[in-house]
Amino acid sequence: MLDFLRQEGVSETIVREIEDFRAKWPTAGSLSHRIPSPRYLYYGKDIWEEAVTALLCGENLLLVGPKATGKNVLAENLAAAFGRPSWDVSLYINTDAATLLGTDTFADGAVSLRKGPICQCAEAGGFGILDEINMAKNESLAVLHATLDFRRIIDMPGYDRIQLHDATRFIATMNYGYAGTRELNEALASRFVVIDMPAITSEGLVKLLTREFPDLRPAYAEQFAGLFQDIQKKCDGGELSTKPLDLRGLVAAVRLMRAGLEGNRALELGIVNKSFDDFEKQLVSDVIRARLPEVLTGADVFV
Ligand SMILES: Nc1ncnc2c1ncn2[C@@H]1O[C@H](COP(=O)(O)OP(=O)(O)OP(=O)(O)O)[C@@H](O)[C@H]1O
Ligand SMILES: [Mg+2]
Repeated sequence: MLDFLRQEGVSETIVREIEDFRAKWPTAGSLSHRIPSPRYLYYGKDIWEEAVTALLCGENLLLVGPKATGKNVLAENLAAAFGRPSWDVSLYINTDAATLLGTDTFADGAVSLRKGPICQCAEAGGFGILDEINMAKNESLAVLHATLDFRRIIDMPGYDRIQLHDATRFIATMNYGYAGTRELNEALASRFVVIDMPAITSEGLVKLLTREFPDLRPAYAEQFAGLFQDIQKKCDGGELSTKPLDLRGLVAAVRLMRAGLEGNRALELGIVNKSFDDFEKQLVSDVIRARLPEVLTGADVFV
């Protein structure tokens, strides 16, 4: 992972500091299964530098951005880079203090605390990923205020107070303004430093596609990255909604091509049909047609 950061051009000083952090807080063997081995790598040197520096300074991170901008990939990559066990907590409307912190349980005739993910993460020096934080109710998240600020504690009525391990950090993700999300309370937001996640660069996308599909012809890696940029531009210009701007869909389409589906049909499934509006579908098809031939076989695209 650290070699990857160097390849990406992350400053050597920062990489060294990650090494120091890892040396200072080695993870107990019993938790090593919680250290992620990432399926995808995050491409974007500036974001890496910002995120790593913030975590080194002891800050918690809030990653904000539209769908498929790599928020979860980055969060997972960060835990891997720092060599920390991680806990993934998906927040939703019914998330409450008990889901986060723990519940009373009976064992040997006595009441004890069955620790929830936040408590476990806090004690183990883990990286806690608070996924889709703005799906939860602010009132439920208020129990985390003392955990996320300088106090670094969890104080549950009836139990001992838990002091956070020095290596514990929290990384929250959110899409802003999507259906089902709420406005994040200012007091909560103030406990994070916020990174506005950019869309992947063309260069990053070519790397992603090439790593994911080693037999993809370089010319087509460029074409697909170009197609993504074309759609991006139309979105920025207001001609298209963000529905067809879907990196997951593009990767899925290439995977379908790999499995033998004709290219345009694959792109229809992965991208075009993400808009449910006939007029917009036609516009997206036109963008594809401007770049790619009418029939695209596996032999064209892969070596
Ligand atoms: N900068 C990037 N570097 C590497 N992969 C990226 C990048 N941006 C997006 N991706 C790819 O996009 C896909 C989605 O990533 P991820 O699940 O992290 O997105 P997300 O931002 O959490 O999306 P959502 O808001 O929908 O949950 C992955 O396949 C990931 O590899
Ligand atoms: Mg996500």
